[in-house]
Amino acid sequence: MTQDELKALVGQAALQYVTPGDIVGVGTGSTVNKFIDALATMKDQIPGAVSSSVASTARLKALGIPVFEANEVAELSVYIDGADEIDAQGHMIKGGGAALTREKIVAAQSRRFICIADESKMVKALGAFPLPVEVIPMATARLIRQFAALGGKAHLRLKDGAPLVTDNGQHILDVTGLQITDPLAFESEVNQWPGVVTVGVFAHQKASVCLLGTSSGVKTLT
Ligand code: 5RP
Repeated sequence: MTQDELKALVGQAALQYVTPGDIVGVGTGSTVNKFIDALATMKDQIPGAVSSSVASTARLKALGIPVFEANEVAELSVYIDGADEIDAQGHMIKGGGAALTREKIVAAQSRRFICIADESKMVKALGAFPLPVEVIPMATARLIRQFAALGGKAHLRLKDGAPLVTDNGQHILDVTGLQITDPLAFESEVNQWPGVVTVGVFAHQKASVCLLGTSSGVKTLT
């Protein structure tokens, strides 16, 4: 099976976690796009979705799925999103699509996080994928130095030759060379550096369930 087919497989499998009558939290990325397409087949059974990005909002609306603001909804039963890396404990690196801040917000208001990913995303330890960190632009140079002190090399993410601007009007640093041996402690530490909006380690908001697309079908990891 191709990677695209594996993504479609887990996108479809995630429908079993959507409770009819409940608003669903929706992440961002190519795997989630497959989930959104599958969700459209049961749109008459749900009031709508809370979305984690401008891109997912556009896709949901184009398929006729109403989108609610996060502030309009107290709690969501489920949040469904992809990952750039996931370990056996459900800790993840996210933010490859630059949507990490809103993803963490929607995950935090959801009772369960269902991660959908193809098997290439499963790792023994987080850190091979460049860690995305959303930052306030005036703090960029100092944060690059702070990551260097941890042994990491941070690069400002560019789009069309200029700094990429997130849905929140901020920038993204991608950091390589980090050893993330304790994801919970790492997330807590980096999150309190002035100028960091969100670090792309999801340990406090880890996955409750991971649906992993493999050549022999969908594996459910809990
Ligand atoms: C976006 C994300 C995505 O979930 C992550 O990048 C995985 O994306 P894809 O499903 O396209 O591989 O965190 O900010």
